[in-house]
Amino acid sequence: MAEPTLNVVSICGSLRKGSYNRIVMSALPGLASEGMQIREAPPYSEFPLYNADIQNSTGFPAPVNTLADAVRAADGVIFVTAEYNFGIPGPLKNAIDWVSRLKDQPFVGKPIALQSASPGPVGGARVQYDLRRTMVFLDALTLNKPEIFIGNCATRIDDKTGEIKDAQTKDLIKQQLAAFAKFIAAHGGRR
Ligand SMILES: Cc1cc2nc3c(=O)[nH]c(=O)nc-3n(C[C@H](O)[C@H](O)[C@H](O)COP(=O)(O)O)c2cc1C
Repeated sequence: MAEPTLNVVSICGSLRKGSYNRIVMSALPGLASEGMQIREAPPYSEFPLYNADIQNSTGFPAPVNTLADAVRAADGVIFVTAEYNFGIPGPLKNAIDWVSRLKDQPFVGKPIALQSASPGPVGGARVQYDLRRTMVFLDALTLNKPEIFIGNCATRIDDKTGEIKDAQTKDLIKQQLAAFAKFIAAHGGRR
């Protein structure tokens, strides 16, 4: 009998239209092995800056609940993120902070995979450890290996055509997605 399809959502850590990380994220469905469907999560770009007063007066903004519902319903989440000042870009951190305050916090027990691209040489290695630490606090389950740090990304990703042009990078992503499918099978389970 065929294995059930894994429904994975992806979240991009950059809001920039021409974002290298968005290009990588857009390539994921074509690099996933059979049996894994990857769709972009609902947007967080319209979230207000987190302020408990908003939460306590008018409640959680609708887009916060929409993103949280998508994360809850997913078998796994892939973050593909830029690194800002050695850490998580503010808008992405703000989004995580909002959903983290919900009852039935959506990242609990959720399999997570991390990827990052940067024009710099280490490909966003530092943001991943920042994000990994945040996921620890939220009781998510983050895949350890293979790690995807796309360094010198302007040489590997064509921002004119919107494609990853480096075969090695695509292979590594395929390997990570295959490992993520196994990780979800071993540790996941939709809540
Ligand atoms: C506010 C800011 C801080 C940045 N800090 C870092 C950094 O710490 N490490 C790094 O490798 N690149 C850093 N960069 C450069 C980004 O990696 C680069 O702008 C990249 O293209 C952002 O990802 P994107 O193309 O997906 O938008 C920074 C860029 C900005 C705008």
